Amino acid sequence: MKILAIETSCDETSASIVSKNTNESLVAILSNIVSSSLELHSKTGGVIPNIAAREQLKAIIPTIESAIRDSKIKIKDLDAIAVTIGPGLIGSLLIGVETAKALAYLWNKPIIPVNHLLGHVYANFIAKSKTKNQKLKINFPVIALLVSGGHTDLVLMKNHQDIKWLGGTLDDAAGEAFDKIGRLLNLPYPAGQTIENMAKIGNKKAFDFPRPMIGSKDFNFSFSGLKAAAMREVKKIKNLDEKTKINIAACVQKSIIEVLIRKTIAAAKKYGIKSILLGGGVASNEKLRDEFALKIKNQKLKIKLFAPAKNLCTDNAAMVGAYALFHPKIINWEKIVANPELYFD
Ligand code: KG4
Ligand code: ZN
Repeated sequence: MKILAIETSCDETSASIVSKNTNESLVAILSNIVSSSLELHSKTGGVIPNIAAREQLKAIIPTIESAIRDSKIKIKDLDAIAVTIGPGLIGSLLIGVETAKALAYLWNKPIIPVNHLLGHVYANFIAKSKTKNQKLKINFPVIALLVSGGHTDLVLMKNHQDIKWLGGTLDDAAGEAFDKIGRLLNLPYPAGQTIENMAKIGNKKAFDFPRPMIGSKDFNFSFSGLKAAAMREVKKIKNLDEKTKINIAACVQKSIIEVLIRKTIAAAKKYGIKSILLGGGVASNEKLRDEFALKIKNQKLKIKLFAPAKNLCTDNAAMVGAYALFHPKIINWEKIVANPELYFD
């Protein structure tokens, strides 16, 4: 099956051609084009929805054209069009959804609507290489930790059809905590990668920041208290020099990573999990990946850890296509609507 996937939920405009045969356990990428208006938002500390949507309107057709050209496939060989219907910014979602509907009508193709959050999870089911056989196989049951700019969720997957939400953030998402604390330190938006770089040379013991909800018995998260604690420290300091900023970055990252790992491993133990999947922009954080691997090893857990290639952690259409290939539930184009509030069922 070959799918054209479209993703426009936030500031990216992305189109991808992906393929998978029925019996295959991984998705192949034939093309994946991502264009972003991030530069226009980097100084404002967050995405400005109407600017993002205007840029997406300009980018959507050229991006789809490039994805088809790169894949070298013919439109007639496409089996379906997959599109992110939510959650996200309404103006941005509408551009992807309405374009998908117009193309489906024009080309007479079915549409598969995709939840963006599950797309992040399914980035793990994309083959890392076109030629080499991937050695590690994802075994069920699975816990997916989805950590992005807008979401922090733990999801239990008994198989591809049995997906259950276990918990999520009660306030800020993990990526949002990185970004808001970055703003406090005058770092450009989004701040996650910059904070990761700074943390490499910072003193992780310089500040004793809280680890919110780390011991709670549920699988929920909260990061607004950490942001408030960082703010209090910044206010106390008269001259926020580079060294202090670097130390704050190191301590904030440590706190976020500790909470994410403790909760995910607790869920993994409770449900007898065989594989942990990381997904979302924060999953590209190498320290998070390394610490996860170390914890699993030190605790001698029989769990395999998976994380997508870095460019597939942040928003992209290939992950949307990957979800669709495992769930080819076709809906008539007239019934497809963008839903900014979409969450887990
Ligand atoms: O998944 P994503 O591209 O967009 C959403 O769907 O939200 O995630 C973007 C988020 C931003 O908050 C960004 O700061 C964070 O991912 N991020 C990182 C890193 N790279 C991106 N956070 C921590 N460490 C990183 N290396
Ligand atoms: Zn995302």
